[in-house]
Amino acid sequence: MADFPPDFLWGAATSAYQIEGSLDADGRGRSVWDSFAELPGSVQGGGDARIACDSYRRWEEDLDILSDLGMRAYRFSLAWSRIMPDGRGRVNERALDHYERVIDELRRREIEPVVTLNHWDMPAALMTHGGWIGRDSVDAFVEYAVAASERLGDRVDWWITQNEPWIIQLLGYQLGLHAPGIRDLRGSAAAGHHLLLAHGRAADAMRSSTKGRIGVALNLLPCVPATDSAADAEAAWGSDGYVNRWFLDPLLRHGYPADMRAHWERAIGGPLDEIIRDGDEDAIAGRSDFLGVNFYTHRVMSAAPAGADRPFPWQVVGSTGEVDRTDESTEIVPDAFRDLLLRLHREYPGIPLMVTENGAVYGDSPTHDGAIHDVRRTRYLRSHISAMAEAIAGGAPLVGYTHWSLLDNFEWALGYRPRFGLVYVDFRTGERVVKDSALHYAEIVRAGGCIDGDDARPPQVDSMGAFG
Ligand code: FCB
Repeated sequence: MADFPPDFLWGAATSAYQIEGSLDADGRGRSVWDSFAELPGSVQGGGDARIACDSYRRWEEDLDILSDLGMRAYRFSLAWSRIMPDGRGRVNERALDHYERVIDELRRREIEPVVTLNHWDMPAALMTHGGWIGRDSVDAFVEYAVAASERLGDRVDWWITQNEPWIIQLLGYQLGLHAPGIRDLRGSAAAGHHLLLAHGRAADAMRSSTKGRIGVALNLLPCVPATDSAADAEAAWGSDGYVNRWFLDPLLRHGYPADMRAHWERAIGGPLDEIIRDGDEDAIAGRSDFLGVNFYTHRVMSAAPAGADRPFPWQVVGSTGEVDRTDESTEIVPDAFRDLLLRLHREYPGIPLMVTENGAVYGDSPTHDGAIHDVRRTRYLRSHISAMAEAIAGGAPLVGYTHWSLLDNFEWALGYRPRFGLVYVDFRTGERVVKDSALHYAEIVRAGGCIDGDDARPPQVDSMGAFG
Protein backbone atom coordinates (compact mmCIF):
# COMPACT_ATOMS: atom_id res chain seq x y z
CA MET A 1 0.00 0.00 0.00
CA ALA A 2 1.05 3.60 0.54
CA ASP A 3 0.57 6.59 -1.55
CA PHE A 4 2.90 9.22 -0.31
CA PRO A 5 3.06 12.35 -2.46
CA PRO A 6 6.06 12.24 -4.84
CA ASP A 7 7.56 15.35 -3.22
CA PHE A 8 7.15 13.98 0.32
CA LEU A 9 9.98 15.16 2.55
CA TRP A 10 11.53 11.97 3.86
CA GLY A 11 14.29 12.75 6.28
CA ALA A 12 15.81 12.71 9.72
CA ALA A 13 16.11 15.22 12.57
CA THR A 14 18.61 16.49 15.12
CA SER A 15 19.03 19.58 17.29
CA ALA A 16 22.06 21.80 17.79
CA TYR A 17 22.70 21.30 21.50
CA GLN A 18 22.31 17.55 21.25
CA ILE A 19 24.87 17.01 18.50
CA GLU A 20 27.18 19.98 17.96
CA GLY A 21 29.68 20.13 20.83
CA SER A 22 32.30 22.92 20.29
CA LEU A 23 30.63 25.05 22.93
CA ASP A 24 33.35 27.70 22.76
CA ALA A 25 33.82 27.86 19.00
CA ASP A 26 33.40 30.93 16.79
CA GLY A 27 32.22 33.29 19.51
CA ARG A 28 29.34 31.21 20.88
CA GLY A 29 27.72 32.54 24.07
CA ARG A 30 26.55 30.36 26.94
CA SER A 31 23.12 28.78 26.79
CA VAL A 32 20.80 27.83 29.63
CA TRP A 33 21.71 24.19 29.03
CA ASP A 34 25.41 24.88 29.66
CA SER A 35 24.57 26.21 33.12
CA PHE A 36 21.99 23.52 33.86
CA ALA A 37 24.27 20.62 32.87
CA GLU A 38 26.88 21.92 35.33
CA LEU A 39 24.54 21.41 38.28
CA PRO A 40 25.44 18.16 40.04
CA GLY A 41 22.85 15.47 39.36
CA SER A 42 21.11 17.36 36.57
CA VAL A 43 22.23 14.94 33.84
CA GLN A 44 22.16 11.18 34.36
CA GLY A 45 25.62 9.69 34.15
CA GLY A 46 27.09 13.15 34.69
CA GLY A 47 27.54 13.76 30.95
CA ASP A 48 27.58 17.12 29.24
CA ALA A 49 27.36 18.39 25.67
CA ARG A 50 30.90 19.71 25.29
CA ILE A 51 31.64 17.18 22.56
CA ALA A 52 28.35 15.34 21.96
CA CYS A 53 28.49 14.07 18.34
CA ASP A 54 31.09 16.71 17.46
CA SER A 55 28.81 17.73 14.61
CA TYR A 56 29.83 21.39 14.62
CA ARG A 57 33.11 20.10 13.18
CA ARG A 58 31.94 16.86 11.53
CA TRP A 59 28.85 18.28 9.82
CA GLU A 60 29.99 17.34 6.32
CA GLU A 61 30.28 13.73 7.38
CA ASP A 62 26.68 13.91 8.69
CA LEU A 63 25.54 15.35 5.37
CA ASP A 64 27.37 12.57 3.53
CA ILE A 65 25.38 10.05 5.53
CA LEU A 66 22.12 11.81 4.69
CA SER A 67 23.05 11.79 0.99
CA ASP A 68 24.08 8.15 1.05
CA LEU A 69 20.74 7.25 2.59
CA GLY A 70 18.90 9.21 -0.08
CA MET A 71 17.23 11.52 2.43
CA ARG A 72 15.24 14.43 1.00
CA ALA A 73 15.07 16.58 4.14
CA TYR A 74 17.17 17.34 7.19
CA ARG A 75 15.61 18.92 10.23
CA PHE A 76 18.24 20.56 12.44
CA SER A 77 18.37 23.62 14.67
CA LEU A 78 20.42 26.78 14.81
CA ALA A 79 22.10 27.33 18.17
CA TRP A 80 20.49 30.54 19.45
CA SER A 81 23.42 31.37 21.73
CA ARG A 82 25.89 31.08 18.86
CA ILE A 83 23.98 33.70 16.88
CA MET A 84 23.02 35.99 19.79
CA PRO A 85 25.84 35.38 22.30
CA ASP A 86 24.62 38.14 24.66
CA GLY A 87 20.93 37.36 24.25
CA ARG A 88 20.13 40.78 22.79
CA GLY A 89 21.86 43.20 20.44
CA ARG A 90 25.02 41.89 18.86
CA VAL A 91 24.63 39.33 16.07
CA ASN A 92 27.54 36.90 15.69
CA GLU A 93 28.04 36.62 11.92
CA ARG A 94 30.57 33.82 12.25
CA ALA A 95 27.84 31.51 13.54
CA LEU A 96 25.60 32.49 10.64
CA ASP A 97 28.50 31.79 8.25
CA HIS A 98 28.61 28.26 9.61
CA TYR A 99 24.88 27.62 9.16
CA GLU A 100 24.93 29.21 5.73
CA ARG A 101 27.60 26.71 4.69
CA VAL A 102 25.54 23.82 6.05
CA ILE A 103 22.39 24.99 4.29
CA ASP A 104 24.14 25.64 0.97
CA GLU A 105 25.71 22.21 1.09
CA LEU A 106 22.32 20.62 1.85
CA ARG A 107 20.80 22.44 -1.12
CA ARG A 108 23.64 21.33 -3.35
CA ARG A 109 22.79 17.77 -2.37
CA GLU A 110 19.08 18.42 -2.96
CA ILE A 111 18.24 17.87 0.68
CA GLU A 112 15.61 20.27 2.00
CA PRO A 113 16.69 22.13 5.15
CA VAL A 114 14.00 22.24 7.85
CA VAL A 115 15.36 24.77 10.30
CA THR A 116 14.33 25.04 13.95
CA LEU A 117 15.11 28.31 15.72
CA ASN A 118 14.53 27.38 19.36
CA HIS A 119 15.34 23.82 20.23
CA TRP A 120 15.67 24.68 23.95
CA ASP A 121 19.09 26.38 24.01
CA MET A 122 18.13 29.92 25.01
CA PRO A 123 21.10 32.24 25.64
CA ALA A 124 21.96 32.18 29.36
CA ALA A 125 22.11 35.99 29.36
CA LEU A 126 18.32 36.09 28.98
CA MET A 127 17.88 34.53 32.43
CA THR A 128 18.42 37.96 34.00
CA HIS A 129 14.84 38.64 32.89
CA GLY A 130 13.52 35.24 33.94
CA GLY A 131 14.07 33.41 30.66
CA TRP A 132 10.72 32.51 29.09
CA ILE A 133 8.86 33.66 32.23
CA GLY A 134 9.73 37.26 31.38
CA ARG A 135 7.73 38.92 28.63
CA ASP A 136 11.00 40.40 27.30
CA SER A 137 11.82 36.94 26.01
CA VAL A 138 9.38 37.60 23.17
CA ASP A 139 11.35 40.61 21.88
CA ALA A 140 14.65 38.77 22.34
CA PHE A 141 13.37 35.86 20.26
CA VAL A 142 12.05 38.15 17.53
CA GLU A 143 15.49 39.81 17.26
CA TYR A 144 17.12 36.42 16.87
CA ALA A 145 14.54 35.14 14.38
CA VAL A 146 14.96 38.25 12.24
CA ALA A 147 18.77 37.94 12.31
CA ALA A 148 18.49 34.32 11.17
CA SER A 149 15.90 35.06 8.53
CA GLU A 150 17.70 38.10 7.10
CA ARG A 151 20.79 36.03 6.58
CA LEU A 152 19.30 32.65 5.65
CA GLY A 153 15.71 33.39 4.65
CA ASP A 154 16.37 33.24 0.91
CA ARG A 155 17.52 29.63 1.17
CA VAL A 156 15.23 28.11 3.81
CA ASP A 157 11.71 27.01 2.83
CA TRP A 158 10.70 25.44 6.14
CA TRP A 159 11.11 27.20 9.47
CA ILE A 160 10.12 25.94 12.89
CA THR A 161 10.14 28.70 15.48
CA GLN A 162 9.59 26.68 18.66
CA ASN A 163 10.22 23.06 19.45
CA GLU A 164 7.76 21.57 21.96
CA PRO A 165 6.60 24.55 24.01
CA TRP A 166 4.76 22.21 26.40
CA ILE A 167 7.97 20.35 27.28
CA ILE A 168 9.88 23.61 27.86
CA GLN A 169 7.09 24.86 30.08
CA LEU A 170 6.67 21.60 32.00
CA LEU A 171 10.22 20.28 32.38
CA GLY A 172 12.06 23.61 32.33
CA TYR A 173 9.78 25.84 34.40
CA GLN A 174 7.36 23.65 36.36
CA LEU A 175 9.31 20.53 37.35
CA GLY A 176 12.86 21.88 37.06
CA LEU A 177 14.08 18.73 35.29
CA HIS A 178 15.39 20.57 32.22
CA ALA A 179 17.12 23.92 31.81
CA PRO A 180 16.72 26.41 33.33
CA GLY A 181 15.69 24.17 36.26
CA ILE A 182 12.87 26.36 37.62
CA ARG A 183 9.93 25.07 39.69
CA ASP A 184 7.19 27.67 39.44
CA LEU A 185 3.71 26.72 38.27
CA ARG A 186 2.55 30.25 37.46
CA GLY A 187 5.90 30.93 35.81
CA SER A 188 5.46 27.84 33.66
CA ALA A 189 2.12 29.16 32.38
CA ALA A 190 3.82 32.44 31.50
CA ALA A 191 6.67 30.60 29.77
CA GLY A 192 4.26 28.58 27.63
CA HIS A 193 2.35 31.68 26.61
CA HIS A 194 5.47 33.66 25.78
CA LEU A 195 6.73 30.82 23.59
CA LEU A 196 3.55 31.01 21.51
CA LEU A 197 3.49 34.79 21.44
CA ALA A 198 7.13 34.77 20.33
CA HIS A 199 6.15 32.44 17.49
CA GLY A 200 3.39 34.79 16.31
CA ARG A 201 5.52 37.91 16.55
CA ALA A 202 8.56 36.27 14.98
CA ALA A 203 6.52 34.89 12.09
CA ASP A 204 5.24 38.40 11.31
CA ALA A 205 8.72 39.89 11.56
CA MET A 206 10.31 37.22 9.37
CA ARG A 207 7.90 37.56 6.45
CA SER A 208 9.83 40.40 4.81
CA SER A 209 13.04 38.38 4.66
CA THR A 210 11.80 34.89 3.83
CA LYS A 211 9.20 33.25 1.66
CA GLY A 212 9.63 30.05 3.64
CA ARG A 213 6.78 28.43 5.51
CA ILE A 214 6.77 29.03 9.24
CA GLY A 215 5.38 26.68 11.89
CA VAL A 216 5.76 25.33 15.42
CA ALA A 217 6.62 21.73 16.35
CA LEU A 218 4.30 20.43 19.08
CA ASN A 219 4.77 17.17 20.91
CA LEU A 220 1.26 15.80 20.74
CA LEU A 221 0.10 13.01 23.02
CA PRO A 222 -3.27 11.40 22.43
CA CYS A 223 -4.89 11.05 25.87
CA VAL A 224 -6.93 7.93 26.50
CA PRO A 225 -9.02 7.09 29.56
CA ALA A 226 -7.73 4.17 31.65
CA THR A 227 -11.25 2.77 32.17
CA ASP A 228 -14.66 3.47 30.71
CA SER A 229 -15.71 5.47 33.76
CA ALA A 230 -17.02 8.99 33.18
CA ALA A 231 -14.39 10.33 35.60
CA ASP A 232 -11.52 8.86 33.56
CA ALA A 233 -13.04 10.17 30.34
CA GLU A 234 -13.08 13.62 31.90
CA ALA A 235 -9.48 13.17 33.06
CA ALA A 236 -8.41 12.25 29.51
CA TRP A 237 -10.21 15.27 28.07
CA GLY A 238 -8.64 17.53 30.70
CA SER A 239 -5.19 16.17 29.96
CA ASP A 240 -5.83 16.66 26.24
CA GLY A 241 -6.55 20.31 27.04
CA TYR A 242 -3.33 20.63 29.00
CA VAL A 243 -0.98 18.93 26.54
CA ASN A 244 -2.58 19.35 23.12
CA ARG A 245 -5.44 21.83 22.81
CA TRP A 246 -3.69 24.50 24.92
CA PHE A 247 -1.25 24.87 22.02
CA LEU A 248 -3.26 23.74 19.00
CA ASP A 249 -6.26 26.00 19.56
CA PRO A 250 -4.48 29.36 19.90
CA LEU A 251 -2.14 28.54 17.00
CA LEU A 252 -4.59 27.02 14.55
CA ARG A 253 -7.96 28.39 15.70
CA HIS A 254 -8.20 31.45 17.89
CA GLY A 255 -7.55 31.77 21.61
CA TYR A 256 -6.96 29.34 24.45
CA PRO A 257 -9.62 26.68 25.20
CA ALA A 258 -11.92 27.88 27.99
CA ASP A 259 -12.03 24.57 29.89
CA MET A 260 -8.25 24.44 30.24
CA ARG A 261 -8.00 28.11 31.05
CA ALA A 262 -10.33 27.45 33.99
CA HIS A 263 -8.09 24.53 35.11
CA TRP A 264 -5.02 26.76 34.96
CA GLU A 265 -6.68 29.58 36.86
CA ARG A 266 -7.78 27.17 39.58
CA ALA A 267 -4.29 25.71 39.78
CA ILE A 268 -2.47 29.04 40.09
CA GLY A 269 -5.22 30.59 42.22
CA GLY A 270 -5.99 33.61 40.06
CA PRO A 271 -6.72 34.91 36.59
CA LEU A 272 -4.31 34.59 33.68
CA ASP A 273 -5.08 38.10 32.42
CA GLU A 274 -1.76 39.57 33.47
CA ILE A 275 0.04 36.91 31.46
CA ILE A 276 -2.32 36.58 28.49
CA ARG A 277 -2.91 40.23 27.67
CA ASP A 278 -5.43 41.82 25.35
CA GLY A 279 -4.40 41.27 21.76
CA ASP A 280 -2.03 38.38 22.49
CA GLU A 281 -4.38 35.72 21.20
CA ASP A 282 -4.84 37.72 17.98
CA ALA A 283 -1.06 37.85 17.59
CA ILE A 284 -0.74 34.05 17.90
CA ALA A 285 -3.66 32.98 15.69
CA GLY A 286 -3.23 32.48 11.96
CA ARG A 287 0.56 32.68 12.03
CA SER A 288 1.30 29.04 11.11
CA ASP A 289 1.74 27.79 7.55
CA PHE A 290 2.09 24.20 8.73
CA LEU A 291 2.16 22.20 11.93
CA GLY A 292 5.16 20.17 13.07
CA VAL A 293 4.02 17.01 14.84
CA ASN A 294 6.37 15.27 17.24
CA PHE A 295 4.88 11.91 18.08
CA TYR A 296 6.26 9.31 20.46
CA THR A 297 3.43 7.76 22.45
CA HIS A 298 0.06 8.31 24.14
CA ARG A 299 -0.99 9.08 27.73
CA VAL A 300 -3.33 6.72 29.56
CA MET A 301 -5.18 8.85 32.11
CA SER A 302 -7.23 8.39 35.23
CA ALA A 303 -9.00 10.87 37.49
CA ALA A 304 -7.12 11.88 40.66
CA PRO A 305 -7.67 14.73 43.11
CA ALA A 306 -5.53 17.82 42.53
CA GLY A 307 -3.14 18.51 45.39
CA ALA A 308 0.26 19.84 46.36
CA ASP A 309 2.19 17.82 43.77
CA ARG A 310 -0.63 17.53 41.30
CA PRO A 311 -1.91 20.84 39.94
CA PHE A 312 -4.65 19.28 37.81
CA PRO A 313 -7.20 16.56 38.65
CA TRP A 314 -5.74 13.75 36.58
CA GLN A 315 -2.74 11.43 36.47
CA VAL A 316 -0.87 9.33 33.94
CA VAL A 317 -1.26 5.65 34.77
CA GLY A 318 -0.02 3.81 31.69
CA SER A 319 -1.50 0.77 30.03
CA THR A 320 -2.18 -2.33 32.07
CA GLY A 321 -2.34 -4.92 29.28
CA GLU A 322 0.37 -6.26 27.02
CA VAL A 323 1.93 -3.36 25.13
CA ASP A 324 5.05 -3.26 23.05
CA ARG A 325 7.62 -0.92 24.61
CA THR A 326 10.95 0.69 23.74
CA ASP A 327 14.05 0.20 25.87
CA GLU A 328 12.95 3.28 27.87
CA SER A 329 9.55 1.63 28.47
CA THR A 330 7.72 4.05 26.20
CA GLU A 331 4.52 2.44 24.91
CA ILE A 332 4.56 1.92 21.14
CA VAL A 333 1.18 2.85 19.67
CA PRO A 334 1.22 3.40 15.88
CA ASP A 335 -2.59 3.26 15.68
CA ALA A 336 -2.75 6.25 18.03
CA PHE A 337 -0.34 8.01 15.65
CA ARG A 338 -2.67 7.42 12.69
CA ASP A 339 -5.69 8.53 14.72
CA LEU A 340 -3.88 11.68 15.85
CA LEU A 341 -3.04 12.67 12.27
CA LEU A 342 -6.65 12.06 11.25
CA ARG A 343 -7.90 14.07 14.20
CA LEU A 344 -5.66 17.01 13.27
CA HIS A 345 -6.99 16.84 9.72
CA ARG A 346 -10.57 16.78 11.01
CA GLU A 347 -10.35 19.39 13.75
CA TYR A 348 -7.79 21.79 12.27
CA PRO A 349 -8.57 21.40 8.57
CA GLY A 350 -6.36 22.81 5.87
CA ILE A 351 -3.11 22.92 7.86
CA PRO A 352 -0.31 20.89 6.24
CA LEU A 353 1.23 18.46 8.70
CA MET A 354 4.90 17.58 8.88
CA VAL A 355 5.94 14.83 11.27
CA THR A 356 9.00 16.56 12.64
CA GLU A 357 9.90 13.88 15.21
CA ASN A 358 9.10 10.23 15.74
CA GLY A 359 11.46 7.59 16.98
CA ALA A 360 12.43 5.18 19.71
CA VAL A 361 15.20 4.22 22.11
CA TYR A 362 16.84 0.89 21.39
CA GLY A 363 20.21 0.22 22.90
CA ASP A 364 21.62 -2.01 20.13
CA SER A 365 25.36 -1.63 19.63
CA PRO A 366 27.79 -3.06 17.07
CA THR A 367 27.99 -6.86 16.96
CA HIS A 368 30.99 -9.00 15.98
CA ASP A 369 30.48 -8.14 12.31
CA GLY A 370 30.68 -4.43 13.12
CA ALA A 371 27.06 -3.85 12.08
CA ILE A 372 24.10 -2.85 14.22
CA HIS A 373 21.13 -5.12 13.74
CA ASP A 374 18.50 -2.93 15.34
CA VAL A 375 15.56 -4.93 14.05
CA ARG A 376 13.19 -3.40 16.59
CA ARG A 377 13.83 0.12 15.28
CA THR A 378 13.14 -1.14 11.76
CA ARG A 379 9.86 -2.61 12.97
CA TYR A 380 9.03 0.65 14.74
CA LEU A 381 9.74 2.67 11.61
CA ARG A 382 7.68 0.41 9.39
CA SER A 383 4.67 0.47 11.68
CA HIS A 384 4.76 4.27 11.96
CA ILE A 385 5.21 4.75 8.23
CA SER A 386 2.24 2.42 7.68
CA ALA A 387 0.25 4.54 10.12
CA MET A 388 1.11 7.64 8.09
CA ALA A 389 0.04 5.91 4.87
CA GLU A 390 -3.30 5.12 6.49
CA ALA A 391 -3.68 8.72 7.61
CA ILE A 392 -2.91 9.96 4.10
CA ALA A 393 -5.48 7.52 2.70
CA GLY A 394 -7.96 9.11 5.12
CA GLY A 395 -7.17 12.56 3.76
CA ALA A 396 -4.57 13.88 6.24
CA PRO A 397 -2.38 16.47 4.45
CA LEU A 398 1.02 15.05 5.36
CA VAL A 399 4.00 16.70 3.71
CA GLY A 400 7.01 15.12 5.40
CA TYR A 401 8.54 12.89 8.02
CA THR A 402 11.85 13.53 9.76
CA HIS A 403 12.73 10.59 11.98
CA TRP A 404 14.18 11.29 15.40
CA SER A 405 17.06 11.01 15.19
CA LEU A 406 19.72 10.90 12.51
CA LEU A 407 22.35 10.27 15.19
CA ASP A 408 22.55 8.85 18.69
CA ASN A 409 23.04 12.03 20.71
CA PHE A 410 22.95 13.91 24.02
CA GLU A 411 19.45 13.13 25.27
CA TRP A 412 19.13 16.09 27.66
CA ALA A 413 18.76 15.12 31.33
CA LEU A 414 19.04 11.43 30.39
CA GLY A 415 22.57 11.93 29.06
CA TYR A 416 24.02 9.54 26.51
CA ARG A 417 22.28 6.30 27.52
CA PRO A 418 19.13 6.48 25.36
CA ARG A 419 20.07 5.84 21.76
CA PHE A 420 17.52 7.21 19.29
CA GLY A 421 19.77 7.26 16.22
CA LEU A 422 19.45 5.72 12.80
CA VAL A 423 23.21 6.06 13.01
CA TYR A 424 25.26 4.78 15.93
CA VAL A 425 27.78 7.18 17.45
CA ASP A 426 30.78 5.95 19.42
CA PHE A 427 30.98 8.82 21.89
CA ARG A 428 34.63 8.11 22.70
CA THR A 429 35.85 8.45 19.14
CA GLY A 430 33.01 10.23 17.33
CA GLU A 431 32.88 7.39 14.83
CA ARG A 432 29.49 6.93 13.10
CA VAL A 433 28.10 3.53 12.11
CA VAL A 434 24.96 3.37 9.98
CA LYS A 435 22.49 1.01 11.66
CA ASP A 436 20.46 -1.60 9.77
CA SER A 437 17.32 0.45 10.42
CA ALA A 438 18.79 3.36 8.46
CA LEU A 439 19.50 1.10 5.49
CA HIS A 440 15.99 -0.24 5.66
CA TYR A 441 14.58 3.28 5.90
CA ALA A 442 16.62 4.24 2.83
CA GLU A 443 14.97 1.41 0.91
CA ILE A 444 11.51 2.55 1.96
CA VAL A 445 12.34 6.10 0.87
CA ARG A 446 13.62 4.83 -2.46
CA ALA A 447 10.35 2.95 -2.90
CA GLY A 448 8.36 6.12 -2.21
CA GLY A 449 7.17 4.94 1.19
CA CYS A 450 6.08 1.54 0.02
CA ILE A 451 6.28 -1.15 2.66
CA ASP A 452 5.96 -4.76 1.67
CA GLY A 453 5.80 -7.60 4.08
CA ASP A 454 4.19 -8.65 7.31
CA ASP A 455 3.53 -5.35 8.93
CA ALA A 456 2.10 -3.58 5.90
CA ARG A 457 -1.35 -3.40 7.39
CA PRO A 458 -4.61 -2.99 5.50
CA PRO A 459 -6.41 0.30 6.17
CA GLN A 460 -8.22 0.20 9.50
CA VAL A 461 -11.07 2.12 10.97
CA ASP A 462 -9.82 4.69 13.47
CA SER A 463 -11.35 4.70 16.90
CA MET A 464 -13.14 7.98 16.31
CA GLY A 465 -14.78 6.72 13.15
CA ALA A 466 -13.24 9.25 10.80
CA PHE A 467 -11.31 6.97 8.52
CA GLY A 468 -12.31 6.61 4.90
C1 FCB B 1 11.81 15.42 22.05
C2 FCB B 1 12.85 16.48 21.80
C3 FCB B 1 14.10 15.97 21.15
C4 FCB B 1 14.51 14.63 21.71
C5 FCB B 1 13.35 13.67 21.64
C6 FCB B 1 13.67 12.28 22.10
O1 FCB B 1 11.03 15.79 23.13
O2 FCB B 1 12.32 17.49 20.99
O3 FCB B 1 15.10 16.93 21.31
O4 FCB B 1 14.96 14.79 22.99
O5 FCB B 1 12.28 14.17 22.39
